[in-house]
Amino acid sequence: MEPIEEIKKIVGKITKLEVKDNWIEVPPDKKFGDFSCTIAFDLAKEMKRNPNEIANEIVKKIKLGKESNFSKIEVISGYINFFLKKEEFCENLLNKILKEGKKFGRLNIGKRIRTMVEFSQPNTHKAFHIGHLRNTCLGDALSRILEFANFDVIRANYPGDIGTHVARCLWCYLKFHRGEEPKERKGEWLGKIYAEACKRIEENPAYEAEVKEILKKLEERDKKLINIWRKTRKWSLDDFKRIYKELDVKFDVYFFESELERKGKRIVEEALKKGIAKISEGAPIVDLSAYGLDVFMLLRSDGTSLYSTKDLALAKEKFEKYKIKKSIYVVGSEQKMYFQQLFKTLELLGFKQASDCYHLSYELVMFESGKMSSREGTVVLYDELADKMKEKAYEEVRKRNPKISEKEARKIAEIIAIGAMKYGMLKFDNNKVIIFDWEKMLEFEGDTGPYLQYACVRANKILEKYGEIENKIRCNQVEEVEIELIKQISIFPALIKKICETYKVNLLADYCYRLASKFNEFYDKCPVLSEKDEEKKRMRIAIVHATKLVIERCLLLLGIKIPEFM
Ligand code: ARG
Repeated sequence: MEPIEEIKKIVGKITKLEVKDNWIEVPPDKKFGDFSCTIAFDLAKEMKRNPNEIANEIVKKIKLGKESNFSKIEVISGYINFFLKKEEFCENLLNKILKEGKKFGRLNIGKRIRTMVEFSQPNTHKAFHIGHLRNTCLGDALSRILEFANFDVIRANYPGDIGTHVARCLWCYLKFHRGEEPKERKGEWLGKIYAEACKRIEENPAYEAEVKEILKKLEERDKKLINIWRKTRKWSLDDFKRIYKELDVKFDVYFFESELERKGKRIVEEALKKGIAKISEGAPIVDLSAYGLDVFMLLRSDGTSLYSTKDLALAKEKFEKYKIKKSIYVVGSEQKMYFQQLFKTLELLGFKQASDCYHLSYELVMFESGKMSSREGTVVLYDELADKMKEKAYEEVRKRNPKISEKEARKIAEIIAIGAMKYGMLKFDNNKVIIFDWEKMLEFEGDTGPYLQYACVRANKILEKYGEIENKIRCNQVEEVEIELIKQISIFPALIKKICETYKVNLLADYCYRLASKFNEFYDKCPVLSEKDEEKKRMRIAIVHATKLVIERCLLLLGIKIPEFM
């Protein structure tokens, strides 16, 4: 059992409580132990008592068995500090990992619970920009982590292929660009037409009526217009598919807004019949002011459907057709209120699973100078970023490997570039705005994807040189840097559990960076292949092997590939 699990078990047994993850810390200073438990502070608050007393009472009841990872437990000002039996702990953990291999950290947390993660959801007829990249990386990594923890994950995409933005784009296309068609990246081109449309309409608001006409015709499925819609919609969808392929992101299901209009309208009718919705100024609304949620509009007054109309249908479709138990929506934080309104409305409609719907929100990607806007054409497009990253990575690869073929250099460069982009999105807490900075994005040292890839490549190289690894090792004496590294490895399973409960993907990025840094410290201080003492050498190889397994797993879960060399 890893130390964290052991602490949870011992303390849990005595207090008869489920020991929370955030009650266990790794103290910054070794004199406070290898792990520390802060449970006494919370209990003290609750019981209005002194934390130190409570901590002492707990510790008095602890009897450490022979099997325990710990040699001693101390209480200092309310903290319960655990000290490892260093050699034994290292030996046990390393041997466990040698035995489990790639299975290390794979816990049955999900118990095959069917969970849908809806993410990416770009709008057709608009550009795919780095905000979508953030969403896509987040949803993909979360899906991978949940899958690893044995959830039965369904990855869903929900492109907005109908609505005002489509009407605007098609209006501008028909009025000013009829018949034009670029050779490639057609979706990106449509995004430009959309931005142009917004500009023209702003300059001449009278155009709004023409757009409305188009929207109405689209909704009535006007034959001629639908053909153009279908053709241009495909341009966008093809572009998205190309991007997903490059990012190695897969979806199990595609829902489309255009396919949910009718079902949505029926639900609105039902809501009106049930008296949950009413007509206000010609449009059906739900008054949610009693819940502090304002008024939720379900249709336009001219009867055309809204974003909300389709979401009512989507929520039901997900649960009914796919028999899911949990529905996660990865959507920007500007829609927080919207999702509260949506879920409340579903609940009022008697939809029991409304409480199993969860909005996982994330913040914007912004420039130092302010918001990016696809209406104003001031967004960084995915392709723009990817092209620059690939070029930069290519230069770096070339510098280091002048002899490899062009094709190989391009291939490695792409793995590095995509790794850098993904890590650059995932290392930030989803609730924090990312200030986009070209310079920082193009860095490959420090807290970046390539740095982590490189740690893995380095470990692989050592292992390759060594050859076959023993399946059992001994630790007679371990250095401080070794213990620190092994401790870091040991917390991986607990971390996975925490992420499955909090959906905080950035914790994994953070963890992986710390692990790679500790590995590099170890590498600087401890000779591996050149170590003379055979037993020590075998132990160090086991350390490298364990580190590699965990870094590789972290990167895999973050959706980052590992190149053969760099
Ligand atoms: N396409 C939408 C947008 O760009 C996001 C869709 C989010 N999902 C949902 N079920 N509403 O804002």
